[in-house]
Parts: sequence; structure tokens; C-alpha cells
Amino acid sequence: MGFAGSSKKRRRLDTSVERLHLFRAMGGGDVDLDLVVSIVGEVLAEALRGRSGKGAIAEVLRRAPRGYLREKALAVKLAVETMRRLGVLEKAVQQLDAELRVERLPRPVYGALLALTFRVLFEKADRMEVARWAWAMRRVFGFPKVHPVEYVLAQLGVVEVQCPEDDEGLVAWRLGYPRWVVRLLFREFGRHFALKLLEAGNWEPITYLRVNTLRTTVEEAADALDAEGFQIKELRYPPYVLLLRRSKEGKPVLLSKAYRQGWVVSQDLGSCLVVEAAHPTPDERVLDLCAAPGMKTTLLAQHMKNRGVIISVDRSFRRMVLWREMVWRLGVEIAEPLVADAVQPLPLTQQFDLVLVDPPCTSMGAFWRDPMMKWRLRPRLLRTYFRLQLAMLKQAACYVGEGGRIVYAVCTYPFEEAEKVVEEFLATHPGFRLEHPEIPGSSGCREMREAVRLYTHQHRCNGYFIAVLRR
Ligand SMILES: C[S@@+](CC[C@H](N)C(=O)[O-])C[C@H]1O[C@@H](n2cnc3c(N)ncnc32)[C@H](O)[C@@H]1O
Repeated sequence: MGFAGSSKKRRRLDTSVERLHLFRAMGGGDVDLDLVVSIVGEVLAEALRGRSGKGAIAEVLRRAPRGYLREKALAVKLAVETMRRLGVLEKAVQQLDAELRVERLPRPVYGALLALTFRVLFEKADRMEVARWAWAMRRVFGFPKVHPVEYVLAQLGVVEVQCPEDDEGLVAWRLGYPRWVVRLLFREFGRHFALKLLEAGNWEPITYLRVNTLRTTVEEAADALDAEGFQIKELRYPPYVLLLRRSKEGKPVLLSKAYRQGWVVSQDLGSCLVVEAAHPTPDERVLDLCAAPGMKTTLLAQHMKNRGVIISVDRSFRRMVLWREMVWRLGVEIAEPLVADAVQPLPLTQQFDLVLVDPPCTSMGAFWRDPMMKWRLRPRLLRTYFRLQLAMLKQAACYVGEGGRIVYAVCTYPFEEAEKVVEEFLATHPGFRLEHPEIPGSSGCREMREAVRLYTHQHRCNGYFIAVLRR
């Protein structure tokens, strides 16, 4: 699918630019509406095709015409807000036209329609804006492609959309979550606390940069970033983590010299705290069971000062290619890759001091980083992940030497992937006991005080459950 706002077509569209006072809340001023519609439509089309929110934005901006920073910023903001409420907006569109066969629509058209629906339902856009947006859609995508959604366009802002009346349904609608997620978190954490979790899932994500002390010092990295116009703040703990406040003209940190030289890497604070909980030291033998793309492998090596051994296992060859690139870029010399299924016996004979288990999970603690994730989850995944995680822990136990430890971490909230996995493991492995890791955080739920939980609204990082199991 081509980019509807680029090259020749873009120049042609310039003659019919709509000058709009569209998003006053975002600073006011005129914008090229055709370009906004085009970018929003394409970003949502990529996301609907299965890309992550971040991946979809990066891909479309890469193809977009140079300049137009204002339009791009508006389009990205609108696309992200639309992704956050995607399921709700899809239901609203279906309500407005039950006959609409969305699977037959060109995806950018459907994406642009969903974004407009978001503006009407959640930001009270008026009929004038609907009309202007609709004309922009016709110019950008062409009349025949927009024709099937004309009925919805005619009703938007005129016909009232019914939202659910019960409490769970209303919260799901207002905050943009699948209803079953709201029900589950209400049941496990109580309404008040669950609301905080759900609201934080819609926060603007905080960018943390981990300084790679294998290549530089915190001072040197901070100075280099500062010289390039990046405003940062050093954290007191862990001392190698920087908070990125702002960059000059929105320059992505990936383009900075510090990043390209492997001095810093973008890594969530919670992910760093998992490695702090593991407390790796030089000359240890470490097994990293779900290692790709290598965030934690490389931080383990940093703590170990590139001394000792890390065996990094992952089932995905594709992701291990990314692992290799990261290990190389950050100057890690002690990590060996092993592409294998961690649920099956591995071709390893030695015992390890530390086994890190960072398995796939529902990632509810990372919804703020990718708003598309929540719409791809299904309730049955909880059971699937529970089984997989438990099977991995059992395998991990085969490789831990006497006095060694397993560190189990998931970036999610439900008990079934957290405390319940550990309870089940301990019931069949009496040789292990829980040990409190010396990191900040809240206690585990279900009376599991030695485990640590991190919550986005309290700890300003991805939500995590972390347990250290000592043999
Ligand atoms: C949460 S991610 C790991 C992130 C990684 N620890 C890091 O910090 O960059 C989970 C990983 O588990 C891998 N995985 C899933 N099932 C697996 C299995 N059966 N055996 C080994 N790895 C598996 C996935 O490919 C994915 O890379």
C-alpha cells in the first residue's frame, strides 16, 4: 500500500490544503489536514495489519514527505489515542452502520474513519470538523474507496452512540480497554487500585536510557547527550539510568551519537530493576532463558564487568538476530547465543549461579508503551502463559547449582502469571525458597511478601512481578 500523502500526489494535494484550526488543545494554528488524514490512516492500517503501535508509526513516518513536523506530531498523537480506544471505536462504528463490512474496506480508510470517530466521541469534534475530515478522506483516498463509509460519516456527530451502562462496561469504554481486562483487574486488585493501573496504561510513556558502563561512564554519556540537545535527568537508583526529558526539535535518541556508539540504550526502568534483583557479579555463570532481543543479557554483562559466562537462550531465531546486533553494539564479550526451546531439556551440562526467566506474558504492565497490545489479548492466553511460564521455571530448576538462584520476572499484573506460577512451582520444588531482592517496589499479592511488584502509577516504569527463588 503506497503512502497517500507522498511525492507527486502530495504536491497535487498541496493545492487543496485545508487550513484548519483543528486541534486547538495541541497548540492551535493551521495544519495540512490532508496530510494528517493520510498519515493517521496509514499508521492505523499498519497497526491493524499486526504491527506494534511504535512500529507502525516508525514505518509510516519513514515513508512520509520530509518536513511537515506539525502535521506529523498531530497525526501521531491522534493515531496513538485512536489505538488506545480501538476496540471501543470499532464497536461504535458498527453501531452506526451494522451493515458495514469492515474487512472489505481499504485499511487506511478504516483507520482514518476510526480516528474521526475518536475525535467525535472523546474530544467532542463538531459537525464542521466531520465534514472537513470527510472531504480530506475523499481527496486523499479517492471517492470510490471512501464510498462504503459515507453512511457512517453522515451519522457521526448526529446520531448518538450508546455506551454501556454498567460500571465495568463504562470504565472499559471511557479508558479504552477490553471489558474482560477491566473485570479481571477489578476482581484481583479492587476497583480503586485497578482504576489507577488502567489509567496509567494510557499515560505518555517515560523514556529511560541505560548507560552502558562497558563502553563509557555516566558522566561522559550525560555530557554527550546534553551537547546534542537532549535534556536528561540522572536517577539516584539505579545510578546508570537516565530519564530523557526532552530532545531538541523532537530528534529521536536513536539518532544521537551516544546511542550509535553504544553508550546508551533505551531500556525501561523496571527492566533494569529485574537485573538489579538478580544481582549478578563478575565471574558468575548465568543462564538467560528468554533472552532476545538482549536488553537484560547486556545489562547482566554490564554488572559482571564482562567477566564470567552468560548463555542466552531464545526460541526465536529472528529475535536472536536482534540479540546479536545488540550484544555486538554494546560491547558484550561473555554472552553465547543458543536458539532453543527453553521448555525442553537444553544441550547444557554445567550448573549455573543464576538463571533468569523472563518469559512471554500478557504484558499488561507495558500497555502504555504499545496501545495495540491490549486489543490482541484474549482471556485464554492467561492459562496458556501460566503453563508455559511454569514449565520454564521447572526447566530452570534443572540448571541452578546449590546456593544459586532463579529470577522470575513478568511485565504484567494478573496473579495467574505471577504469584500463582511461583506458588505452583514452590509446591513441587521444596528445595527452593523465596528471597526478597534488595530493590525498591511493593510487596507481592496473595501474601507473597518476598516478591516485588512494580506499578506504573507508583514506580513510573513498566508494571512488573519479580521473584527471586534461592536453592
Ligand atoms: C519478554 S521477552 C524477553 C525479553 C528479553 N529478556 C530482554 O530483556 O530483551 C520473551 C522472549 O521469550 C521468547 N520465547 C518464547 N517462548 C520461548 C520458549 N519456549 N523458549 C525460549 N524462548 C521463548 C520469545 O521469543 C521472546 O524473545
